[in-house]
Amino acid sequence: MVKVLFVCLGNICRSPTADAVFKKLVEQQNLCDRMLVDSAGTAGWHIGKAPDSRTQTAAHKRGYDLSGLRARQVALTDFEQFDYILTMDENNYSDLLVLAPVHHQSKIGMFLEHAPQFNLTDVPDPYYDGVDGFEIVLDLVEAASAGLLEHINANHFS
Ligand code: 4NP
Repeated sequence: MVKVLFVCLGNICRSPTADAVFKKLVEQQNLCDRMLVDSAGTAGWHIGKAPDSRTQTAAHKRGYDLSGLRARQVALTDFEQFDYILTMDENNYSDLLVLAPVHHQSKIGMFLEHAPQFNLTDVPDPYYDGVDGFEIVLDLVEAASAGLLEHINANHFS
């Protein structure tokens, strides 16, 4: 089993998008029984809530269903459980490095490292943006998900 956790700040916009987009790719490649995918936030403000309605609407237009996801906060056990812990921005990344036991820090990475064509470090936080921000999140997440699954296929399943 390869276990992937996506992390943002609130777990209601960016990381649930990554969760659903990546799960769909995993399904399409028939890897469901070999992978576990989840998402969480560094903050606990939205625990138990469904993804932001703007996020759900934008994702739904591209064929992704986020309605069953519920926000949760990163837990210390996540550093044990997951193999890849991928953050949406540099703030999430530095917050996780502070929390993680030293021997698990190498599991933490920036998600957009898997979409080098964009030359960006951060998936911009769309929460205070207009609708365009949610489309940008989807564009970046779709590209990085494809890159990440290629990396995992090459390193674990070939
Ligand atoms: P996310 O977006 O980290 O992509 O889920 C945010 C959601 C909520 C807040 C900030 C960012 N907030 O300030 O409540």
